[in-house]
Amino acid sequence: MENENLKTVLEEKRTFEPQSNFQQNAKLQSIAEYKEKYKKSIENPEEFWAEAASELHFFKKWDRVLNADNPPFFRWFENAKTNICYNCIDRHLGSATRNKAAIIWEGEPGDEQVLTYADLARKVNKMANGLKSLGVKKGDRIAIYLPMIPELAISVLACARIGAVHSVIFAGFSAESIRDRVNDCQAKITITSDGAWRRGKHLLLKNIVDQAIKNCPSIEKNIVIKRCKTEQFDCTMEPEKDIWYHDLVEKCSIHCPAEEMDSEDMLFLLYTSGTTGKPKGIIHTTAGYMLYSYYTSKYVFDLKPEDVYWCTADIGWITGHSYIVYGPLANGATCLMYEGTPNTPHKGRFWELVEKYSVNIFYTAPTAIRTFMKWGDEWPNKYDLSSLRLLGTVGEPINPEAWMWYHKVIGAERCPIVDTWWQTETGGMMITPIPGCTTTKPGSATLPFFGIDACVLDKNGEEQNAGLLAIRKPWPGMLRGIYGDEERFKQTYWSKWKNIYFPGDGARKDEDGYFWILGRVDDVVNVSGHRIGTAELESIFVSHTKVAESAVIGIDHKIKGQAMVAFVSLREGNDGNDDLIEELKKLVVEKIGKFAIPERIIFTADLPKTRSGKIMRRLLRDIAEGRTVGNVTTLADASVIEALKEKYQDD
Ligand code: WTA
Repeated sequence: MENENLKTVLEEKRTFEPQSNFQQNAKLQSIAEYKEKYKKSIENPEEFWAEAASELHFFKKWDRVLNADNPPFFRWFENAKTNICYNCIDRHLGSATRNKAAIIWEGEPGDEQVLTYADLARKVNKMANGLKSLGVKKGDRIAIYLPMIPELAISVLACARIGAVHSVIFAGFSAESIRDRVNDCQAKITITSDGAWRRGKHLLLKNIVDQAIKNCPSIEKNIVIKRCKTEQFDCTMEPEKDIWYHDLVEKCSIHCPAEEMDSEDMLFLLYTSGTTGKPKGIIHTTAGYMLYSYYTSKYVFDLKPEDVYWCTADIGWITGHSYIVYGPLANGATCLMYEGTPNTPHKGRFWELVEKYSVNIFYTAPTAIRTFMKWGDEWPNKYDLSSLRLLGTVGEPINPEAWMWYHKVIGAERCPIVDTWWQTETGGMMITPIPGCTTTKPGSATLPFFGIDACVLDKNGEEQNAGLLAIRKPWPGMLRGIYGDEERFKQTYWSKWKNIYFPGDGARKDEDGYFWILGRVDDVVNVSGHRIGTAELESIFVSHTKVAESAVIGIDHKIKGQAMVAFVSLREGNDGNDDLIEELKKLVVEKIGKFAIPERIIFTADLPKTRSGKIMRRLLRDIAEGRTVGNVTTLADASVIEALKEKYQDD
């Protein structure tokens, strides 16, 4: 945490009150209103959440709002029956929302599709029946590996409708990553597409899945969506296993009753990196997650019926689950969904889409904002962005400079910015401005959301101004476990203090009670908003026959927020040359995906270690960030540092 960002946020004193036009039309219009509602949510959480939940549809009401008898296994809305797909779709079919756009989709090549809530209902029901016809039952796991096409949202909702547990795997992951995730949860079906459009080219997604599921005995069928309809594009179907989506749903009925799910029935799994080599299957269940994604969307985005809302995340990550699919649809919102990247065919693509669809709410990541900054103001300035009324960011700390650029160049100083701190594990936003209420400070996620008892503690559990972020009370959207690993769940999140959730982030709390998130304090690096465990990479490198040892660290990066640097020591008699660097990079692509390639790979004769053999990453970070190297008295061999420093500068 001894980084540049910390220095800048410590010096940041600017404040921005909610813009009055925005405020006058907002759901909540003053900090007093926020405070009153917050107080109620903390003093009487069960009453608060019960009242919120009454805005949604339950087939059967709960007996008890929160069962906290056996922490950390919290249960919300005990014995109630509901269905999140029903709440996202059917609930709207009796009102004017029925004929309103649910999803406005644009593909990378510019093809378009608009699905009203009624259209979405038909497609989701057909898909749900299609899954049933393949023998899918409540509780079965379905792995989804798709580009950002409407069928991704449809597949997710179809699973939820029949109570199948979806596990979406971001379409940048490699075959080996898919294999591990599928095998961990013993998925029965995979859903993929023939290909995807990426920067004008086809990505052969099905081939990747084919390769993965060769080693997945639990997979019975692979559903394939036809996305790339070109002559020269060939996709081999294996009759025993593969089935075209259009053939599957063709004869299916548009009616499929929504399964009455218990509140605590599993809704989905989403794998995320941790501090060991093995990704964790984060478990979310039905009612609590549904309520939390609904309620945070409602208040943080201040959704209006006429809004066009655009979250640029991929549904392969939690942001897409909660804020493209479930949260906005539960609110009856209109979501723009885009398949492509921000710079294809040109660097103004996102702003072109904002103008074309008159987007009102825009939610993106700091790394994207910093990239836009680098590309220059001329791109956004070419387009009419006056429809925008609210901006948001998520995924990593935003530096005040990027915040100010977003505020001025994209928001024309007219739009509040919601910097939302949360995680895969939290299900929804936890620390965030409420746009009509909260005075914002560039770089601060500001104040906790309703019901969130956030604080900053030291390792003894004492409150401090700077230290470890902690959440003292359970909340409806919280994770319920790690798939198949109860011990790891307790260890990772609940062992720092008694019955207090530990998110793994460092934070500072200022004199106004504002939170400034300082980044991960564990061995997880946040590269462009993607969490990557350093241990995952280290174990990949040491799997190479020429490698003896490896230490991977995160360093500050101007665009990506953080980047990874890998220090690698080789077995006797091997030469650290460019070919080996390429081999190691290739290995990362095979095992995880392109996005996990480290910024630099540095060969070294030794790694700095304590006398007990522990690698001193702190010193490696000092070297990599060009600082004076800290205390070396505990080092077994201090000369390693000098050698490394020289090596680092030479490379
Ligand atoms: C980081 C993404 C600072 C944080 C929703 C967290 C943030 C991790 C912010 C979760 C923010 C997310 N300010 N840091 N506004 N939002 N983070 O699971 O380190 O992909 O622990 O969830 O991203 O990443 P995840």
